[in-house]
Amino acid sequence: MTTLGFSRDLFPGGRWMVCRPRDYDVRYSINPWMNTAVVPDKALAAAQWGNLHHHLLRLGAWLEYVDHADGQPDMVFTANAGLVRGKDVVLSRFRHPERQGEERHFRAWFEANGFTVHTTRGSFEGEGDALFCGNRLFCGYGFRSEVEAHKEAAKILGVQDLVPVQLQDPRFYHLDTCFCPLNEAVALVYPGAFSSQDLATLGRCMELIRVPEHDALHFVCNAVVLGKNVVLPAGCPDTYGMLAQRGFTAYPVPLGEFIKAGGAAKCLSLKLEQAGG
Ligand code: ARG
Repeated sequence: MTTLGFSRDLFPGGRWMVCRPRDYDVRYSINPWMNTAVVPDKALAAAQWGNLHHHLLRLGAWLEYVDHADGQPDMVFTANAGLVRGKDVVLSRFRHPERQGEERHFRAWFEANGFTVHTTRGSFEGEGDALFCGNRLFCGYGFRSEVEAHKEAAKILGVQDLVPVQLQDPRFYHLDTCFCPLNEAVALVYPGAFSSQDLATLGRCMELIRVPEHDALHFVCNAVVLGKNVVLPAGCPDTYGMLAQRGFTAYPVPLGEFIKAGGAAKCLSLKLEQAGG
């Protein structure tokens, strides 16, 4: 099936799924960032999301929208919808019952959009914990996704080169909160989230740009990479400088209302097709 509208040539930023916040909130706590006494400002969250959306479009992304279902306040974090490769998707199986209600909505969207939907036996939180870099899949386990589920997902998607790493710090509970491949040669990493052994494993795969803790705590690794352009949370000048030295342009966007739920730019987007080039 041809995707109506998307073309790699016209949209060099790739094809992504996003979810416009309609019922976004912090109504339960399933990670250390979420405090039900510190709820997001809904109007500000909508404005921050709108600004992120604007940046993705202007940097050449083609965006597709899943409707925000009522009563699923975390559904805006579409990185957790599943993991896509070609026309196949491994749907998320959320660890926490609070998010399990999202699964049928994401499934319906994928089916309606021509994807073949697969599932794992164990918990698996999609692109939040599994990041493609070329044909290699980096997988985080320990808090949300199970290592066995990653292996199942890799098998389903025909991935041979799997790099599993165990997440160590509950504040960085998904791989995309502490690791971000920029291309096949270089990645952003917050070293404190990994054991020294796993850090060495990552370092054998590519050059690591080690971000300081104060930037990691602003979710700087939770970045959307569109070629040489990187859309990432505001307030992290040290990391923007390191990116610039390697020829990347940082586009900082304020996302504080989403950090209250433990997510930022990358969590708010799911890659459906790679950028062109
Ligand atoms: N509140 C959500 C959760 O705890 C945030 C998800 C962030 N998503 C991500 N890909 N890191 O599940």
